Amino acid sequence: MRKFLGSAAVAAVMMAGTAAYAAENVEVLHWWTSGGEAAALNVLKKDLETKGIGWTDMPVAGGGGSEAMTVLRARVTSGNAPTAVQMLGFDIVDWAKEGALGNLDDTAAKEGWDKVIPAALQNFSKYDGHWIAAPVNVHSTNWIWINKAALDKAGGKEPANWDELIALLDKFKAQGIVPIVGGGNAWNATTMFDSVVLSLGNDFYKQAFNDLDPAALGSDKMKEAFTRLTKLRSYVDDNFSGREWNLDSAMVIEGKAGMQMMGDWAKGEFIKAKKVPGTDFVCMRFPGTQGSVTFNSDMFAMFKIAQDKVPAQLQMASAIESPSFQSAFNVVKGSAPARTDVPNTDFDACGKKAIADLKEASDKGTLMGSMSNGYGAPAAVKNAVYDVVNRVYNGELTPDEAIKELPAAVAAAK
Ligand code: BGC
Repeated sequence: MRKFLGSAAVAAVMMAGTAAYAAENVEVLHWWTSGGEAAALNVLKKDLETKGIGWTDMPVAGGGGSEAMTVLRARVTSGNAPTAVQMLGFDIVDWAKEGALGNLDDTAAKEGWDKVIPAALQNFSKYDGHWIAAPVNVHSTNWIWINKAALDKAGGKEPANWDELIALLDKFKAQGIVPIVGGGNAWNATTMFDSVVLSLGNDFYKQAFNDLDPAALGSDKMKEAFTRLTKLRSYVDDNFSGREWNLDSAMVIEGKAGMQMMGDWAKGEFIKAKKVPGTDFVCMRFPGTQGSVTFNSDMFAMFKIAQDKVPAQLQMASAIESPSFQSAFNVVKGSAPARTDVPNTDFDACGKKAIADLKEASDKGTLMGSMSNGYGAPAAVKNAVYDVVNRVYNGELTPDEAIKELPAAVAAAK
């Protein structure tokens, strides 16, 4: 080109290119900053690139997204909302109530989203009958990730109930490895607690963490849940505090630790490290929770933005809901697709299990919103739960004290 055009003309062409690029650009706020998460995010970036849409990255680290939500508030308050924001359940509803979100109805209608996205997700991706967010996936929190070599050394049997789980942790201890990693911050400890509460019964979980029933929150069963959490904590190493969930995963991957209780984003770390389910690691539902799922779905909430940026926003929403993207992305992310019609062919054994469990739970009515990850209750209540759980985990509250604090904290936050 240089041969035929003067340098001023070249500059003009390049600027025109930049301008076109800038118009077809999305600015995306998210908290996918770990190795596995970044790999999954890259699938989305690349997909948009092929459609001529540029990407301005706004990463804000921190599992569960609390830090990202703080940054978002500041951006929107200053009248400068990003194009799309990774968001969880009740946070989406809160922004919709404030009238800050755009409208995806035309794209959704053209592509038939109503028929393929399950009602449990539509409860959060639609507000007042209008589509406001594009669901990317379905994660769930009631998983355990176990180092396979350590499990084999301990006899190879997956624990089928609480007592077997404790027996396995004792065996890991005897092997000289850290039995469990986790609980480095309030979100992480509460993610573990989702599973413990669920293992004491579906109805109990629902009453406590979806219905926020004070009697369930202050019950003997909840005391038992806190007692169990305290027991699990006694198997965690002394350096747990402040350690991020992906560093916990790395310890299990490297065989320094036996297991991690974490949502299936942890699988993204195992996959990124080229580990294979059934060979290098085992995925299982927390004992006593098989057949039930505490879910959270990452959605991109689409904000009201300048009119010239809306076409790229809608294209991004459409790209996210494409069945081939849903497969490619979720294979890497560790989650199940947000659509019910995506073939499970490309998923590994844990991914196939996630998809099957989700269907089973949805059919049986045992699919429940994760408290720790934004689908149990609005942020104020969730934060109140985080605080009590974290204090128990760190030995600042006894289970007896916790069942007095929990209903009071939730009532104050409602
Ligand atoms: C999100 C996941 C993310 C995890 C850890 C969860 O709240 O749903 O997508 O991987 O936090 O960052």
